[in-house]
Amino acid sequence: MWRPEQRIKWSTRPGQWPTQEQAKTSLLFSSLTSGALEVTSRVWVPAMVPWRASLEGYVTNENIEWYRRFAESAPGAIVVEATGIRDVSSGKLLRINDDKFIDGLSKIAQAIHEASGGKTRALIQLIDFLAIKRRPSTDAFLSRFLQITQRHKDMLNLPSATEMQVRSALAKMSSSELESVLDARELESLNMGHRERVTDVHLPHIKNLPEQLPELFKTAAVRAQEAGFDGVELHYAHAYTMASFLSALNTREDGWGSSLKGRIRLPLDVYRAVREAVGSQFVVGCRLLTEEAISGGSTLEDTKFFATELGRAGVDFLSFSRGGKFEDAQQPKVLQAAYPYTGRSGYECMPQYISDELGPFGRNVQPTREIRNTLRLADLKTPVVVAGGVYDFATAEALLKSGAADIVGLARQSLADPDWSAKVRTGRGAEVRLCRYTNYCEALDARHEAVTCELWDRVNLMQDGVAKTPDGRRRLLPERDERME
Ligand SMILES: Cc1cc2nc3c(=O)[nH]c(=O)nc-3n(C[C@H](O)[C@H](O)[C@H](O)COP(=O)(O)O)c2cc1C
Ligand code: SF4
Repeated sequence: MWRPEQRIKWSTRPGQWPTQEQAKTSLLFSSLTSGALEVTSRVWVPAMVPWRASLEGYVTNENIEWYRRFAESAPGAIVVEATGIRDVSSGKLLRINDDKFIDGLSKIAQAIHEASGGKTRALIQLIDFLAIKRRPSTDAFLSRFLQITQRHKDMLNLPSATEMQVRSALAKMSSSELESVLDARELESLNMGHRERVTDVHLPHIKNLPEQLPELFKTAAVRAQEAGFDGVELHYAHAYTMASFLSALNTREDGWGSSLKGRIRLPLDVYRAVREAVGSQFVVGCRLLTEEAISGGSTLEDTKFFATELGRAGVDFLSFSRGGKFEDAQQPKVLQAAYPYTGRSGYECMPQYISDELGPFGRNVQPTREIRNTLRLADLKTPVVVAGGVYDFATAEALLKSGAADIVGLARQSLADPDWSAKVRTGRGAEVRLCRYTNYCEALDARHEAVTCELWDRVNLMQDGVAKTPDGRRRLLPERDERME
């Protein structure tokens, strides 16, 4: 994992926790209604993949209990993890690409509503992603995966060699010799694993994404509605397909890229298709990046334009993350896939306690504030969700009061202590188990292992009836605080 070279160690310093009375009159614990979005508090649990689905993408009891645990504290909304809209196998990630998934998903929506006494809105994040292959061994790449072209033959000065002859000539080359024969994309496939891009328009399934994705997102959103969710969050952030359409690196010249208008065209089409199918009473929001935080990537100015366009189109909220891209991801080990949170942009997405002078807290605040200001100047009231390093009441309340955001997302802090909302609301903020921003949870996510928090996953492991990881070494949920019941 990339870390700033300054390596300054930061620790949390929560400001004053409110009394129950102060919490009651706070902005954080006040309701908000805008469009279809009605939340009873401005505490938001952003999407976090816990790797608890079945290998086929079905909801498991572990998924249901996970979300129930977050909902018991009655935050304003919980966004259920990134859920795949396409018939693509993706390990223990949830899927919503077929009606067969509705039944299981409805149990999550129901658990959230029941456990929160109807106070928490259940949203689900809809994601599309392109293929990414594991990094191959050099041998496998040169003998099988590399497509031999005339260019290779010419580079090797073997214009009429057979494919096998070219492969065996390449196999005898050193790494630096290979660098002079393979093009940039082939080298990337060798060193990082092959990754599709939205700009690969020579591939029909990539060229046709703009025709296919509105329908795929639409049917997924309809299924979410049938499953009893209050709304969907369209995943337009991080390393995935829709964010790649928005990216400044999207140089498509077929009307679906290059200019700002070209890049926002598909995200708008997807939103409109979804809205038309689910109606005006169902929440439809988007998660965007304030900045891609990669060389040549989209800037804050680009996002101001995208946010304004989406606001004008009528989205019910805009939630802002930052970074999390493949372009600067670290090289994976052979037979492992690249992970978009390992480079500098990944650090911006989930900043860790070893940081620079800016620290891990609030790196996304100023850009989010600027985007919100742009929306308000355009007379758009779209609620804005900020996330990134928020753990205490004083900061959350100040963010709302100063107009940086309308809603505050606490992802890792909610994982560290799912009772955050209830504790703070009832004047017990001092009892919050504060996140240390170590990214132990993130490392589990990177390995596609059940996500837990180091602050609670080994506590009272031997208690009766504790659900554990298959190796029995970690509990899947934190102990219940009896006073919360
Ligand atoms: C284990 C884990 C899984 C995550 N999964 C998702 C996801 O499915 N979708 C998403 O948009 N962000 C995901 N994130 C990013 C968080 O939603 C959030 O933006 C990020 O952690 C920064 O907020 P925080 O500092 O409050 O944790 C994930 C984060 C973690 C730690
Ligand atoms: S493992 Fe726990 S303490 Fe560490 S970053 Fe994740 S939530 Fe925070």
